[in-house]
Amino acid sequence: MQLDLSTSYLGLKLKNPLIASASPLTGHLDKLMLLESEGAAAVVLPSLFEEQIEQQDFSLPSPPGADPFQRSALTPVPPLVDYNTGPDGYLKFLEQAKKAVAIPVVASLNGTSRGPWLRFAKSLEDAGADAIELNIYLVSADPEVSGAEIEERYVELVAAAREAISIPLAVKIGPFFTSPAHVARRLAESGADGLVLFNRFCQPDINVEWPAVCTQLELSSPAEARLPLRWIAILREKVSASLAATTGVHSAEDVIKYLLAGADAVMTASALLRHGPRRLAEMLDGLRAWMIEKKFARIDDFRGSLCQLRVPDPSAFERAHYLWAVTTYETEPARAV
Ligand SMILES: Cc1cc2nc3c(=O)[nH]c(=O)nc-3n(C[C@H](O)[C@H](O)[C@H](O)COP(=O)(O)O)c2cc1C
Repeated sequence: MQLDLSTSYLGLKLKNPLIASASPLTGHLDKLMLLESEGAAAVVLPSLFEEQIEQQDFSLPSPPGADPFQRSALTPVPPLVDYNTGPDGYLKFLEQAKKAVAIPVVASLNGTSRGPWLRFAKSLEDAGADAIELNIYLVSADPEVSGAEIEERYVELVAAAREAISIPLAVKIGPFFTSPAHVARRLAESGADGLVLFNRFCQPDINVEWPAVCTQLELSSPAEARLPLRWIAILREKVSASLAATTGVHSAEDVIKYLLAGADAVMTASALLRHGPRRLAEMLDGLRAWMIEKKFARIDDFRGSLCQLRVPDPSAFERAHYLWAVTTYETEPARAV
């Protein structure tokens, strides 16, 4: 059976839906080549942070007016200029990456405030990026700032990035909105060609021995895919933007679930950090085997077939599902017998 795994994401034609998402793995040329040879259809470079761009270029004028999203004075920013070789090094690395691999290379900008740093998006375009992923990683802890203001800021950021570049723009967001579907639609209308769902926020922990707050980035587990899975299924036929899934993709089964929910592309990082780039080839083999078994020749034959608007009971993705789950729950021992 002739299989066609190709997909379209952000208007880019990909040979398959698997993308190596931003992580330390995508920050090395040899690893990028390995990821390509193991089947990655595209790569997202590690993020360049707003703070890095600002720390390097003090000549950038601040935007007028107070910005409630400026980093809190409570939060000292570590010296970041040289992280990932700094903004200039990032541009050089991007140029080298474009020469080293034939698959699309997506550059990643990560920040939260309206500011001149966003103009760096144009430099990334000039250095050859096939697309830009704007990661808006915002933890809003100010009780004076409303959800509506925050959403407005997201829209402004996306519109500013859109204006700065002519290549495709993906926006990576977290799940914590009162109305994620509304926000998703507004971001698409503001110029996002694609949404990457969701940012996996780094959760601080407390060490009781010191005692102190400690922050350690832990790799994901497949169970964490449930949150983005639900929202991709809900958004599939409600927003015009491409949808990329990120979080919890560790096996072919996870890839297939996201595609059934309606993802145009499926990203993975933790699984590659844990098992190495070879895991990509294993996922692709598993995807092919499943398609043959289910007699699907193309991704489009099944993509989105379990999105909210195409399942017999759309309420399964909403409150009704919770009611059903809670009221029919059996305790562990009862389930075991
Ligand atoms: C060590 C590490 C570094 C990461 N660095 C970035 C980054 O620079 N920019 C970004 O947008 N996401 C970054 N991520 C997030 C991943 O791209 C991905 O969205 C997240 O880990 C969820 O996917 P996963 O479950 O496949 O790991 C990083 C993740 C890890 C584990």
